Amino acid sequence: MAYTFISGATGGIGKAFCLECLKSGDKLFLTGRSQQKLDLLKAELLDVYPTDIECFACDLTIDSSREKMLNYIDGKNLKFKRIINVAGVDTQMPFLDYTQEKLIFQMRVNAESTICLTHALLKRRAEKVEVLTVGSMSGVSPMPYFALYSATKAMLLNFFTALHYELKGQNVNVTTVMPGGVYTRADVCEEIKSQGVWGKISAKTPEYVAQKSLRAVKKNKVKYIPGGFNRFLYTLMKIAPKKIVLTFIAKRWKTHKKDAF
Ligand SMILES: NC(=O)c1ccc[n+]([C@@H]2O[C@H](COP(=O)([O-])OP(=O)(O)OC[C@H]3O[C@@H](n4cnc5c(N)ncnc54)[C@H](OP(=O)(O)O)[C@@H]3O)[C@@H](O)[C@H]2O)c1
Repeated sequence: MAYTFISGATGGIGKAFCLECLKSGDKLFLTGRSQQKLDLLKAELLDVYPTDIECFACDLTIDSSREKMLNYIDGKNLKFKRIINVAGVDTQMPFLDYTQEKLIFQMRVNAESTICLTHALLKRRAEKVEVLTVGSMSGVSPMPYFALYSATKAMLLNFFTALHYELKGQNVNVTTVMPGGVYTRADVCEEIKSQGVWGKISAKTPEYVAQKSLRAVKKNKVKYIPGGFNRFLYTLMKIAPKKIVLTFIAKRWKTHKKDAF
């Protein structure tokens, strides 16, 4: 039986995908940077769902690390029926405060590795396959002070939307998920809390995002935005004059700083 691949499995949203997929009887292939975190996660998951779980620690920004993981996959002749791209870093600061290293790291995790890995795993696909990628509502519009994160997520949306149509009729479902706030790390939960009532209305739990996203990819939706309020915001951002949206975003995010390295 083919596996479900989950990158960023050790994070909040990744773990929720693990649990949801286990509920439907999937065998899992999980990755994150830390072997220790993966081992702990595997033990926790096996406690609830005794099944076949493969783990491989891989820094997605390092070519040789990705290659080692693919060699491991080929050594075991694993095939994939689901590819769930969750890994991402949400650094947020004025552009000039970044170091070159941080710019490259964020681009590589969020965009380059997601696309390259999807390419590699589609070559190792089962007959039917679902590709689900976690983008963000931040990718809907350019975001001053969150510019690079937003641009990487916009790239994912653009890329996977094209792929959705390119692979239509070839037994490949391709969906991009665009969550607003999701209650995961402590700093993210704090940030949602600081947004007051708006944060409360728009934020979702990782379980909600995972459940609904898996339904969306089953239906082969090109994109999915979790939560009615976020869908309303999406429409608003699309129809409102760009200048107003960008001025609002710049004012809103000017004071926020986050460094998720
Ligand atoms: N939380 C939100 O509010 C929110 C909203 C919209 C979109 N998203 C997106 O959802 C995804 C997951 O978010 P989250 O909140 O669950 O984040 P998280 O808890 O910080 O988890 C991030 C995951 O990415 C992995 N990762 C980071 N850098 C990596 C690298 N170089 N190589 C391999 N794996 C790496 C981490 O693995 P390690 O164990 O190695 O750290 C971890 O498993 C991200 O793509 C994020 O942009 C989140």
